[in-house]
Amino acid sequence: MNAVQLALLEALQRGPRSGPELGRLLGISRAAVWKQIQALRQAGLPLPGRVRRGAMAGYTLPTDCGLLDAGAIRRALPAALRDRLRFEVLAETDSTNDTLLRRPAAARAGVICLAETQTAGRGRRGRTWYSPPLGGIYLSLGWRFADGLGMLGLLGIVCALDCAAALARGCGFAVKVKWPNDLYRDGRKLGGLLLELQGGPNGPCDAVIGVGVNWRLYRPAMIDRPAADLTGARPDIDRNSVAAALIAALVAACESLPQREPGAVQRAWDKADLYRGRRVVVSGSSGKTSGLVAGIDDRGGLRLDRDGETITLYGGEVSVIGAGGAAV
Ligand code: BTN
Repeated sequence: MNAVQLALLEALQRGPRSGPELGRLLGISRAAVWKQIQALRQAGLPLPGRVRRGAMAGYTLPTDCGLLDAGAIRRALPAALRDRLRFEVLAETDSTNDTLLRRPAAARAGVICLAETQTAGRGRRGRTWYSPPLGGIYLSLGWRFADGLGMLGLLGIVCALDCAAALARGCGFAVKVKWPNDLYRDGRKLGGLLLELQGGPNGPCDAVIGVGVNWRLYRPAMIDRPAADLTGARPDIDRNSVAAALIAALVAACESLPQREPGAVQRAWDKADLYRGRRVVVSGSSGKTSGLVAGIDDRGGLRLDRDGETITLYGGEVSVIGAGGAAV
């Protein structure tokens, strides 16, 4: 999304506007306005729609799209956090994780990068994270840990649990987790986390933690599994406040990690786990393993009961086995 497209959305956020009005506001021709609106539609935003205002056809954002606003996000954060983080709000980037990863580790610690849209958003296991303009919250946090990699086994688990709790508090509905760090609402995927770690066994370690949460599913067919969004359940929620809640949750997860007692994390996971006790199949690099979900171990591995024996897996994609025996 270029600067003109962002300016168009900013203008439309204040109310419907005709093509000539937008052209005058932005100092471009009516044809140029139309071209940029077409580009936004092609990027996945089926907005702005064309409406009749008196005799004049115009453009509008029919829903409250809530453009990201660094000032509003900062104000919504707990006071103690406001000045400790550096914010970057981008109209467009390839991936907020990659934007941070391209920098030296020391230069990205304490930096939050958010984008209105990602052109190459990444999910776990090499998947694409569909990131249309105003369709989701896409953000990444850079963080430096004094500990070595071995101490960070529970990081993804703790981040997912804290993000799920923050969303549940802020939005007023239950959010479940699916191993290792997916977020679910009503049995459908609402969001997920992508953690990228660098460092050695003795520390320090550097993490880039990306979170993607569906804000409004304009084109659900673009997502390869049943998906949920936030506005579907709560049309009135404020996008910047939700972004701030996620940021606060990530920072709290990183800061508290060394003090988090593994037993307490395991119990919290059991309570929030979407598939606890269910029969699942885990597809990994060495094939498929099935069993009953039996929680996580103290390093964040997935425990599966298989005919009286418990095994632990540290990677893979979990699918639940439906009544007919098919993995879904
Ligand atoms: C998953 O469930 O597969 C993880 C999705 C993570 C998506 C977020 S969006 C912000 C950050 N930037 C990316 O490219 N990916 C993560």
